[in-house]
Amino acid sequence: MLEAPRSLPKARHPVTPQGPIFGTPPVSIAPMMEKTDRHYRYFIRRITRSTLLYTEMVTASAIIHGDRDYLLGYDESEHPISLQLGGDDPHELARAVRIAEAYGYDEYNLNVGCPSDRVQNGSFGACLMARPERVRDLVAAMRAVTAKPVTVKHRIGIDGRESYDDLLGFVDTVRCAEPARFTVHARIAVLSGLSPKENRTVPPLRYDDVYRLKRDRPDLQIEINGHIETLAQIDDHLSRVDAVMIGRAAYDNPWLFADVDARYFGAAPGSLSTRRDVVEQMLPYLAEWHAAGWPARNVVRHMLGLFAFQPGTRKFKQALSGPEVNADPVGVMRRAVSGIRPEVLDA
Ligand SMILES: Cc1cc2nc3c(=O)[nH]c(=O)nc-3n(C[C@H](O)[C@H](O)[C@H](O)COP(=O)(O)O)c2cc1C
Repeated sequence: MLEAPRSLPKARHPVTPQGPIFGTPPVSIAPMMEKTDRHYRYFIRRITRSTLLYTEMVTASAIIHGDRDYLLGYDESEHPISLQLGGDDPHELARAVRIAEAYGYDEYNLNVGCPSDRVQNGSFGACLMARPERVRDLVAAMRAVTAKPVTVKHRIGIDGRESYDDLLGFVDTVRCAEPARFTVHARIAVLSGLSPKENRTVPPLRYDDVYRLKRDRPDLQIEINGHIETLAQIDDHLSRVDAVMIGRAAYDNPWLFADVDARYFGAAPGSLSTRRDVVEQMLPYLAEWHAAGWPARNVVRHMLGLFAFQPGTRKFKQALSGPEVNADPVGVMRRAVSGIRPEVLDA
């Protein structure tokens, strides 16, 4: 999460009216704590206009008791955007959704996949997979207070409930509340003994279980997630399920999304930006947050991967990682980019 705000710059783009239902976008960028904050989302929107973006997880009780503008504020250009909520109390989740409605999110997503201790102590996240009826009731409570889609992000299982039949049983129970989509991280979460990070690498990927779920329940919208890193992999998954969610690759290699609008959302190729355009569009944003008294580092850190796998990427990262970025973010950004070859900047 970001540090506490001083004053938040106002939205810089006109409101894009969003219908209550926008179907299942074929590609989305996963909710990631400390990563998919509003600055990352603003940045990645310079690269892809259509990909569905998720917030970091925000707990229902934080929304009820905390600083709402800080937790829920975002720039209008971030649409379409899904607010991911954590919680296990139907009343609290419904209250959080009612509060969030004023902010115009396009979708609400319930976190049933996060395995961290902190989340388990609140008995939500992945451990809710052991309580499918509860998840059904949470979805129903959220749906009762909004016309926007309510979706669920979960694992294929947790320790002790690891079989495909357990997954199917979970989905069949939760579907009674009619969530608009199931996003399935194709690994179980091991709740005893593995850290959240290990839980994203150690349990084996079981894509076949997700494909089978789509085959067995073709009427449900199924999105697959877990270690998907290339457009060719996205293509392959899309031939078997409705949508693909990308996490770490979207953060570490954001330019992966440069072709996504044209390839999956039917955007005209001419509407695409170059990396130079992206940087130019980020400069006023940087200046604005800097002028509002925010550390520019909070914005710049999300841009470090812009030249991943390109010559000059190491120097670019180094140039942006020094303390001077907070004093003169625009100047430091301009200098950092000057080390990148034009054919990379303008590709
Ligand atoms: C740093 C980090 C933070 C994450 N935070 C969340 C979160 O807040 N909510 C959630 O549902 N999943 C969270 N995840 C899991 C991702 O959404 C995703 O399911 C996981 O990284 C697997 O996708 P990937 O292999 O494409 O990265 C997080 C992952 C990372 C790497």
